[in-house]
Amino acid sequence: MSISVPKLATPDWSSDLSENVYEPSEDSFLLLDALESDLHFIQEKIQPLVLLEVGSGSGVIITALSKFLAARSFCMAVDINWDACVATCETARINDAQVDVIQMDLDSALCLNNQVDLLVFNPPYVVTPDEEIESGGIVASWAGGKTGRQVLDRLLGNLSYLLSKNSVGYFVVIEENQPEAIKVEITICWFYRGKQLRNVKFATRLYPFCVSNLCYSFISCLVSNVL
Ligand SMILES: C[S@@+](CC[C@H](N)C(=O)[O-])C[C@H]1O[C@@H](n2cnc3c(N)ncnc32)[C@H](O)[C@@H]1O
Repeated sequence: MSISVPKLATPDWSSDLSENVYEPSEDSFLLLDALESDLHFIQEKIQPLVLLEVGSGSGVIITALSKFLAARSFCMAVDINWDACVATCETARINDAQVDVIQMDLDSALCLNNQVDLLVFNPPYVVTPDEEIESGGIVASWAGGKTGRQVLDRLLGNLSYLLSKNSVGYFVVIEENQPEAIKVEITICWFYRGKQLRNVKFATRLYPFCVSNLCYSFISCLVSNVL
């Protein structure tokens, strides 16, 4: 008897994506792979009702998740870049997926009060001067400030308000973002809020990887709050 392994199909995206929008790249596919390898866990243990992708760009990730989970989940995507919001809507439309898209800075206009079951963020992680973060447009896709973590850190600070009791979050980071420090900061942050990250599981997967001439190690971090 063969056991069927669930697959996360890569959705189509518009061939005339605005040059202001992050084209699905190796890091996007890495995140899709990480999600795909956890589909069984997501389906069985998380059974997500509310999904949030922060920084959806072209929309391929939230669209893939929405298609996989069919109509059982409420899928939201946010991006600070208006063109990315339009692209996410278009990708969802082309693939006949249900995704609600909102333009905003991280989760700033949402009051989700521990209702997000599955959170995904492929953030701007490249180490750059801090000022570049404010440049907007396509630069906001990669500019991560002096640790490459300025944007991600702001979201991680809100995790204890966002994630539900039985939840999981996936983030793409690189070595330069100091993943071990991220782990410590998340745990401390939850502790000071008087909340405990239940059954903390923080898995990292290393992917040796090259972008242009720079050699990066991509790490997909998993923060799990599974009961
Ligand atoms: C590396 S791209 C990832 C795009 C897409 N999720 C993917 O994996 O292909 C990062 C995305 O985050 C968005 N972004 C950057 N800063 C943001 C912020 N403060 N709030 C929401 N989105 C942001 C960018 O506009 C960009 O679309």
